[in-house]
Amino acid sequence: MSSAAAAPLPTVNTPLLRPAIQVHSQSQTRLSHRARRRDHRRSKRTFLANILPASIALILLLAFAFIAYDVSSLGDCVTPLCRALGGDKGLEDIWWRNQGPYAPFRSLGKFGAQKGLPRGCEVDQVTVLHRHTARYPTSSAGQCILRSLSKLKHREVRLPRGPHELAFLAKTDLDLRDWEFDGLMDQGRKQAWVSGRKIREIYAKFLRSAKVFTRSSGGGRVVETSGYWLEGFNGQRFKLKDKKRLPLVDVVIPEGETANNTLSVHTCPAFNALDPTPGNVHRATLSQQLQPTITRLNEALRPQPPLEVDDLLCLADMCGYDSQASGQDWNGWSKWCGVFTPQEWEILGYGKDLSRWYDVGQGGRYGPTMGAGYVNELIARLTDSEVVDTTITNRTINADENLFPRGGKRLFVDFGHDNEMLEVLAAMGVKHQRRDLPSDHVPTKRTFIVSEIVPFGGKITFERVACDTGNWEPDPEVPEGDHDNHDQPYEDRDHRNRGRYATLVGVSDGGRGRDGKKDYVRILVNDKVELVDHEACRYSGLIEHGLCEMEAFVDSQRFATTDVDWNICYEHEKEGREGSD
Ligand SMILES: *[C@@H]1O[C@H](CO)[C@@H](O)[C@H](O)[C@H]1NC(C)=O
Ligand SMILES: *[C@@H]1O[C@H](CO)[C@@H](O)[C@H](O)[C@H]1NC(C)=O
Repeated sequence: MSSAAAAPLPTVNTPLLRPAIQVHSQSQTRLSHRARRRDHRRSKRTFLANILPASIALILLLAFAFIAYDVSSLGDCVTPLCRALGGDKGLEDIWWRNQGPYAPFRSLGKFGAQKGLPRGCEVDQVTVLHRHTARYPTSSAGQCILRSLSKLKHREVRLPRGPHELAFLAKTDLDLRDWEFDGLMDQGRKQAWVSGRKIREIYAKFLRSAKVFTRSSGGGRVVETSGYWLEGFNGQRFKLKDKKRLPLVDVVIPEGETANNTLSVHTCPAFNALDPTPGNVHRATLSQQLQPTITRLNEALRPQPPLEVDDLLCLADMCGYDSQASGQDWNGWSKWCGVFTPQEWEILGYGKDLSRWYDVGQGGRYGPTMGAGYVNELIARLTDSEVVDTTITNRTINADENLFPRGGKRLFVDFGHDNEMLEVLAAMGVKHQRRDLPSDHVPTKRTFIVSEIVPFGGKITFERVACDTGNWEPDPEVPEGDHDNHDQPYEDRDHRNRGRYATLVGVSDGGRGRDGKKDYVRILVNDKVELVDHEACRYSGLIEHGLCEMEAFVDSQRFATTDVDWNICYEHEKEGREGSD
């Protein structure tokens, strides 16, 4: 299921080894035929009959071995055959996985609305936390990229010609003349429209009787994303428009260091003062492994001044950006992606994961704290009640039913940024890591991949699901185990049965007091079911369907509701003052 997007093409690693073996045995048959003939007429043709086929077989074997290598994840997919077979699908997966937050959107599952729910269950409320879609680099990232590009521009070698992976540098625009830093790209505008249309389609049945409420963080690219999204959602045709002519969400919340805004949290001074950030420290440790890459590119291109590790990090971002920077539709990966080998990409990509996880994710001191406000808003909606929060929700806005409707049968859509989405997941215990991510090597199995969580246009969906537990029975259409997250130990039969038991006996305990109905929460990250790593949900009924009972879910969110301490955001000031006294 997790690989639903990465459709298994018949290319990866092994299949080609089989034809290689067949060819080998064919030539062996040929050999034995000839050997029989040779019995009749032994002659000077011994050489031709014996050595030549053997060497042909050997050459074929080597050729096939190379192609098999080429197609495998170790190779670079340079042969036409590999490309024809779709072998660069493997390569494309590597590029996508390693673009971090600059990856283009990919749906990772087929869930949402009725899909994957047991019989008797129905979606009753939906909140989508939606990242803005593809944009050009921010101004500061843009400066870093331009600095590195200018080194390449002042190279001291002629570029190799022909199919060499660096040859494109001779023709490509190293000044990024048409790039509007901070702004949305046309592909992003279209993608936002597509997303709106898709959500309208997926939730069509629910929307027949549900209201819609939308919020956006105040940043230009976020508001514009929400505008195109609304056009798609409202069934308009896609058309590039002046920003002012786009529809507007119900509430726009200003951004900035004095604004209480759960969709853009910049009011934690201690976090703002981190220098260097822990994420950068961890990424720097990992990046020591890029030394051979620096040497390789400096020898091949002799840029002036020579590239350093920061240049590599900035140049790596060209892969995702340049792939999305032209046209309205995806048109394949940029040649920039080929500048690095698959092994180098794993280091570059995992470095992005490290930096987010230690800065705004579970690995950072402030990440979960900054995500708590949004979790409390979500709990208010899920339980049809007022927001209770001790962090950075705006009390004035949230006390007003017109600006913050208290739940009900609604589709809520909130447009914001990647960092806050990671903070929210960290506060909730979703994508929870049992161990700190190592920074001295790239783990063979990566369990926190930023491009899977917050690519451009990424979305986290929280569904309130009402189930008629009185008549509960397993849905024959949903095969056992056809749910997600095999990484986490929810598969345990005892737990599952206990959960089932709880569901069956807990009939009277009906969610919001409707006949025999009980409320559950289901969380989707880019259409793939994710679970809250908390025992309350682990033991919940219907957990095998990715559902967590409402009460258990609220219970699992004790960090945001109770334990969070916003005061840690001011501790450094106290220390600072004490120090200077
Ligand atoms: C809270 O929202 C109100 C109403 O939009 C606004 O006037 C006020 O400045 C906001 N306060 C903060 C701290 O963001
Ligand atoms: C804004 O958040 C601060 C905590 O950072 C809180 O003390 C204040 O009451 C909030 N303001 C509003 C209008 O909610």
